[in-house]
Amino acid sequence: MKIVTTIEEVRTQVKQWRAEGLTVGLVPTMGYLHEGHASLIDACHRDNDRTVVSDFVNPMQFGPTEDLESYPRDIDHDAALAEAHGCDLIFHPEPAEMYHQGFSSFVDMTVLTEELCGLSRPVHFRGVCTVVSKLFHIVSPDRAYFGKKDAQQLAVIRHMVDDLNMDIEIVGCPIIREADGLAKSSRNTYLSPDERKAALVLSQAIRLGSGMVRDGETDGAAIIEAMKQHIHAEPLARIDYVKIVDLATMQQIPVLDRPALCAIAVYIGSTRLIDNFFTEDVTG
Ligand code: PAJ
Repeated sequence: MKIVTTIEEVRTQVKQWRAEGLTVGLVPTMGYLHEGHASLIDACHRDNDRTVVSDFVNPMQFGPTEDLESYPRDIDHDAALAEAHGCDLIFHPEPAEMYHQGFSSFVDMTVLTEELCGLSRPVHFRGVCTVVSKLFHIVSPDRAYFGKKDAQQLAVIRHMVDDLNMDIEIVGCPIIREADGLAKSSRNTYLSPDERKAALVLSQAIRLGSGMVRDGETDGAAIIEAMKQHIHAEPLARIDYVKIVDLATMQQIPVLDRPALCAIAVYIGSTRLIDNFFTEDVTG
């Protein structure tokens, strides 16, 4: 496995693979890799001849008061994990390699970015769409892998690829959890021992809501109310949102009469965590 830091090195390598007739998959990440990322690398390795992992904490998708500076980084750990899961090339650029002086072009999206994380993180999806577009142009993969953990991001990327006619298959992968249910996240490292215990309210609320859907409940307000009540009982938790949206538009719907996403964002102390379930994964 190689680690490269320049766009030119990635292009040279991918061109060589293409000349050999090999397929190429991409797993975009911000590093500090865990089993959630590993599951994406596994899926990519399974489906493609060569696997590229990008490892870049993208400044553009962080708001001015967010955790860009403190976001955890460990390229040596990432390299070992990625290689163990079949990665062939890690692209680990400096911000200046991705955003040269005078950078002024952006990929932005309406509708799908208006609700959920788009409300509390207004510049986030513009940053995500821009960097993912750049990575797609740099690597030109056949397939790219994204986790359902970031469900709105997955929907936004699928929509962008469709809107902008990018010839890349987007593969969505299941949420990987800790043994006790907490969805794996690089941000879990911010939690104190007490907060780590309190963070269980997210996956518990998801289990509660998805159980109601499995039992046939279609009234969105009833599901949301039950989930909110559960989270409110935890003193260290503060709800950002608990919402049910149409999977196609990410707009809120009152009744579960179409494929939907139930998504939550909750502050545990000062750490903002997200979790979700897709109704189609519950009802089959
Ligand atoms: P990051 O948070 O590092 O996540 C990279 C990918 O790993 C995303 O597709 C995310 O959904 C997936 N992932 C994270 N935790 C997961 C879990 N517990 N189970 C399954 N998949 C999981 O998402 C980003 O980076 C960035 O926004 C990026 C797309 C790289 C653009 O900068």
